[in-house]
Amino acid sequence: MLSIDEIKKPIAAEIDAFEEKFTASMKSSVPLLDRITHYIVKRKGKQIRPMFVFLSASLCDGINESTYRGAALVELLHTASLVHDDVVDNSYQRRGFFSINALWKNKIAVLVGDFLLSKGLLLSVEHNDFHLLRIVSEAVRQMSEGELLQIEKVRRLDIDEAIYYDVIRQKTASLIASCCACGAASSGADETTVEKMRLFGEKIGIAFQIKDDMFDFGTDDVGKPLGIDIKEKKITLPLIYALNQASSSDKKRMINLVKNHNDEPKKIAEIINFVKSTGGLQYAESQMKIYQDDAFAILNTFPEGEARTSLEQLVRYTTERNK
Ligand code: IPE
Ligand code: IPE
Ligand code: MG
Ligand code: MG
Repeated sequence: MLSIDEIKKPIAAEIDAFEEKFTASMKSSVPLLDRITHYIVKRKGKQIRPMFVFLSASLCDGINESTYRGAALVELLHTASLVHDDVVDNSYQRRGFFSINALWKNKIAVLVGDFLLSKGLLLSVEHNDFHLLRIVSEAVRQMSEGELLQIEKVRRLDIDEAIYYDVIRQKTASLIASCCACGAASSGADETTVEKMRLFGEKIGIAFQIKDDMFDFGTDDVGKPLGIDIKEKKITLPLIYALNQASSSDKKRMINLVKNHNDEPKKIAEIINFVKSTGGLQYAESQMKIYQDDAFAILNTFPEGEARTSLEQLVRYTTERNK
């Protein structure tokens, strides 16, 4: 697997130009907001979404000015969703530092998230990028619906794999799908190609969230809290599988731990051990690979070239990354 920096190299100039647009688009004359957006820009993430936008455009009919705005748009909305997600999940660490709600409290984090969302919308409206805005707005609707579906279903602790996939397709895969569709659309690709790229992104997005959910059971420093999904009674694929394999008494015991002892570190450790010894992580890994293979199959319908190679590397990174 190549590192994210190595995969970025062929599009380094594009990423630099994107970062400038991204930073500029967050400007505010309110000093508090400016301090917070400065903090956000300094602690940037992996930027895989803008990378998908650029590489998808390259794979289709080429990068142009609107591609840069598409990349800034999705990263703004992604950032807004993380700021809100950490409020929703009560999470105090993000990208190896304190989250916005940890430093400035929920009230301010909610407003900052709204500000970032509005800046994304304005960037598109001001340049008449309505085609891109439609694609991305659809994804934002699905993200909110996915997070609410998660609260409604996943927390009732009786979820099956089908519901899990529904949740992650909506809350995570929709935005990554929109990156690939946006990149293709910005390059001037036809509807069929845009839809093919959207589906490619959806497959990767599902694999991406399965990987993220696996991190929660690990011990590696991924820049955000571990064991927090169980703490928030969020049941993900490794645990769903383990529960379905377990005897009914084990299952009862585990569900009781998640329901009633989810703030006790020892009990969380017990659940994590149960998932590991039941093969929940291996199962999740194998399911993730199926989605990765689906993504490769779609990619292979495009002609060989630099962009396709980079996208293959980025897909591989998605499932092999360590943060
Ligand atoms: C985190 O996304 C949110 C999920 C969908 C799991 P990333 O892992 O891409 O976050 P950053 O931008 O690199 O921090
Ligand atoms: C993804 O779910 C959240 C969004 C779609 C914004 P998580 O809650 O698992 O994401 P992390 O782990 O906090 O980044
Ligand atoms: Mg979260
Ligand atoms: Mg997570």
